Amino acid sequence: MLLPNLLKYCKRWLPIVYLESIKRSNGIDYYICKKIKENGKWKHQIVKKLGKISKPEAEQKLAEYKPKYEKQRNMIDGKINNLNEYKKRHGIPYDIWDFKERGDGGDKNFHGNTSPKVIRQILLMLTKPLDFIVDPMAGSGTTIDVCKKLGRKFNAFDLYPKREEIEEHDAVQSWYLDDPADLIFIHPPYWNLVGYGNKQNDLSGTATIRDYYRLLQRALANAYESLKRNKYIVVQQGDLVQEGRFYPLCSETFQILKEVGFIPHHEIIKLAHGDTSRKKSGMLVSEYIWQKQWKISHDRVLVFKKMN
Ligand SMILES: C[S@@+](CC[C@H](N)C(=O)[O-])C[C@H]1O[C@@H](n2cnc3c(N)ncnc32)[C@H](O)[C@@H]1O
Repeated sequence: MLLPNLLKYCKRWLPIVYLESIKRSNGIDYYICKKIKENGKWKHQIVKKLGKISKPEAEQKLAEYKPKYEKQRNMIDGKINNLNEYKKRHGIPYDIWDFKERGDGGDKNFHGNTSPKVIRQILLMLTKPLDFIVDPMAGSGTTIDVCKKLGRKFNAFDLYPKREEIEEHDAVQSWYLDDPADLIFIHPPYWNLVGYGNKQNDLSGTATIRDYYRLLQRALANAYESLKRNKYIVVQQGDLVQEGRFYPLCSETFQILKEVGFIPHHEIIKLAHGDTSRKKSGMLVSEYIWQKQWKISHDRVLVFKKMN
């Protein structure tokens, strides 16, 4: 809804610039001016005062200025085209995401599944067609389905593969990829909120929260090794309240990402309307209020970059 307005706004404020030389009305000084279209009206704006020079000299100065302004104009055209493309594909340029419906992809009955809309937004903003995307905790394979729709290559693995396209591999052990990734998406278990199994290194099965962070750190260090430089890792994480204790998994994960070498790039708040949480929400809310806490109703989507 907001994007068409944004586009209108950008078109209005990204000036359409033409350079021209005009003589001042008193007939003495020459100026280089640009002609700008704002709110549908043309107006002149002075760029540089040339002073009392002859007309041929003024035209010479103008010719020197022109390439710089043509570059600027091309850049503006590029930005508008880019924005048009983003709009066509329903990209959301804001960092609070509130999807009323989950969307198609992966398995909505898989406990802890990601909304395909989250992955779609990430791929639209940070990748291009044929980029190579890796999801090392692939669950029901939502990342695979979004990659197929958007024409990205992928590699997905998990301790407990649920589909043929998902390889069985432990993200805590070294990853052996044919190529480094253009983007890594990880949606880890929110510690033991959902138990996925009892294999060694299952992040959902650690005895203590410390062990969880230790395994997550090893998985994220592997991600660092497997990502191309100047590319992004995106981690969707959620906090946890258990028996009245708050576990700030998002903030700790933010810290771990920094410790393994990534640089923060952005952060998105994704509002949670999961079916399971909706069913339980009445019961949970009374429990949380009893404990003087709030019901967690958002995930954080942490976007980090591997620098040069
Ligand atoms: C929150 S789910 C991911 C859901 C997935 N994004 C989807 O949309 O279906 C977390 C996944 O991490 C996997 N997992 C836990 N520990 C792992 C490990 N050491 N290596 C690989 N996968 C692991 C679990 O099996 C589970 O499938």
